[in-house]
Amino acid sequence: MESLAIAGFGKLGSAIARGAIDAGVMRAQDIVVWARSEARRAQARAWGLTLADWPDLAGRAPRLLLALKPQVFAGMTDPRPALAQDAVVISVMGGWSAIDIGRRLGTRRVIRAMPNVAASVGASVTALASDAQAAPEAMAFAQRLFAAVGKVVAMPESDFDTATAVGASGVGFACLFVEALEQAAQQAGMDAAAAREMAVGAISGAASCLRTGQVSPDELRRQVTSPAGTTAAGLQTLEDGQLAQLVQKAVDAARARASELGRTSA
Ligand SMILES: NC(=O)c1ccc[n+]([C@@H]2O[C@H](COP(=O)([O-])OP(=O)(O)OC[C@H]3O[C@@H](n4cnc5c(N)ncnc54)[C@H](OP(=O)(O)O)[C@@H]3O)[C@@H](O)[C@H]2O)c1
Repeated sequence: MESLAIAGFGKLGSAIARGAIDAGVMRAQDIVVWARSEARRAQARAWGLTLADWPDLAGRAPRLLLALKPQVFAGMTDPRPALAQDAVVISVMGGWSAIDIGRRLGTRRVIRAMPNVAASVGASVTALASDAQAAPEAMAFAQRLFAAVGKVVAMPESDFDTATAVGASGVGFACLFVEALEQAAQQAGMDAAAAREMAVGAISGAASCLRTGQVSPDELRRQVTSPAGTTAAGLQTLEDGQLAQLVQKAVDAARARASELGRTSA
């Protein structure tokens, strides 16, 4: 029997498999995958993974990673697939609570995780539900699995809509900010390639400094803001435009949508 079954081998399922193999958390021969498209199946074969059909896959390993589109999960679990004995289910699906996943699969051992797209480059921040009804060994496995694609932050599942809004949708928000910086640079006459480099560099530079843990966002902002200087002038404009309040509204909207999707999924 394989150690990990992965249902759904799209962007996230494949990124987690790749990260786990590269980090030495899993061996390719211990992973079995269900993938819908031939292109994804070919990818899995090329990496040395085993392929299985759904619903057989569900019973193939003591750990089942659900990386399916949320909207196909209900259809794929009717009729209910048989899980391996004492199997633990780990889900990265948005919109499906542990309890609803468990109801559909007939188990209480469900762990929820919410990574982000940067899992594909080993730089995700993954929310991991700390209140899951799974054994400590299964939780430890989930920790290792997601640590292979970035950082892991344990939190109660009740925080997941917020984690989705800030950690996963937040990538989109950050990209909008980069696009706006780029556009402003081009507006001022800079060529597109240079504008992209400068805008991405500002954001990745800030992130790299913050990642050292030696400086907080507030401290770093103060460090680059001399009185009456250029940053101060720009920040004042952002404050006048109520950037913080706007971000609050964006997070609230994303949280509300996450909670709505949760209600319609079940
Ligand atoms: N991507 C992210 O940044 C991210 C972040 C946090 C959570 N998530 C969650 O992770 C899960 C997977 O996301 P993803 O980005 O990996 O999605 P994805 O690339 O679309 O892949 C999802 C899997 O579902 C299959 N699939 C797609 N549409 C289908 C359909 N209509 N019927 C049957 N199968 C279908 C895909 O098959 P093929 O590719 O083979 O066609 C693939 O195996 C989702 O529940 C999402 O909410 C994603």
